[in-house]
Order: sequence, then structure tokens, then C-alpha cells
Amino acid sequence: MATNRTFTMLKPDAVEKGHIGAILEKISASGFRIVAMKLTQMTKADAETFYAIHKERPFFTDLVQYMTRGPIVAAILEKDNAVEDFRTLIGATNPADAAEGTIRKMYAESISENAVHGSDSDENAAIEGAFHFSGREQF
Ligand code: CMP
Repeated sequence: MATNRTFTMLKPDAVEKGHIGAILEKISASGFRIVAMKLTQMTKADAETFYAIHKERPFFTDLVQYMTRGPIVAAILEKDNAVEDFRTLIGATNPADAAEGTIRKMYAESISENAVHGSDSDENAAIEGAFHFSGREQF
């Protein structure tokens, strides 16, 4: 059953470039309610666990280095059809393939530094949200 919640991270490149406000504005204007949110920095162990599904991929070491090099904004978002609608809002993994007006088209540099994360399923949204937030941090 759809939970209508998804999990996102504004990644270190987006934070470094000062895009937090613009991206949150776009998320809010697209009808998502913020359930939980914080500025935080992942440790190497955090990133290796969070991205364990990619550990055999050739880009894994670079991905861990990228995701730990500075702060991120982690958030749980709520909306009808949240997972699918958020992935539409952020656009394709590679910003070169992302549709006009999507967050990655507007703010991402490359397939590796792509500004924002969005969960790919309800199951992963719940796992990823619980990785970053306790129940008491969700409203
Ligand atoms: P995301 O889809 O949020 O989670 C996995 C991340 O791995 C992805 O964003 C990119 O940051 C990175 N990634 C995915 N595919 C590639 C690739 N082909 N080369 C480099 N990095 C990638």
C-alpha cells in the first residue's frame, strides 16, 4: 500500500552552491509537506551503509567521497503519490537527460553530482527515512 511519504537529500553540491532555499521552495510549491528535516553530514560508514546496494558499482568509492564531503539536507516529505511525484519533480539521474524545469535540470552538474536524492519505492522511502530520523523527529 502506498504510504505517500518519500525521503530526500539535498546533496553536498547543492548545499555548497547555496541552492537549499530555492530547492525547498520548489518542493513546497509542488505540494509536498515537510514531515522531518535537518542539516547534517554523513560519515563514511553512514554513506557506505546508505548506498550499500551500489557497493559493487565502479562509482561507489567516488559516491561515498562525494556524499561525505560536506553537509546535506535530509528530509521526509508527504504528498499523495509521493515517491513517483517526487522522482518526476527531480528528473532523471543524469541531469543531461532530465526534463526542463526539474530540479536536476536546474541545479545538477553531472550524473555523479546530481544535487538531490529521491527514494525509488515506498519500501526504500521508509528504510531511508528511518536511517536519518527517529519517530520523535517526524511531524
Ligand atoms: P541517486 O540515484 O540519488 O543515488 C545513487 C547515486 O549514485 C546517484 O544518485 C548518483 O549520485 C550516483 N550515480 C549513479 N549512477 C552513476 C554513474 N553512472 N556514475 C557516477 N555516479 C553515479
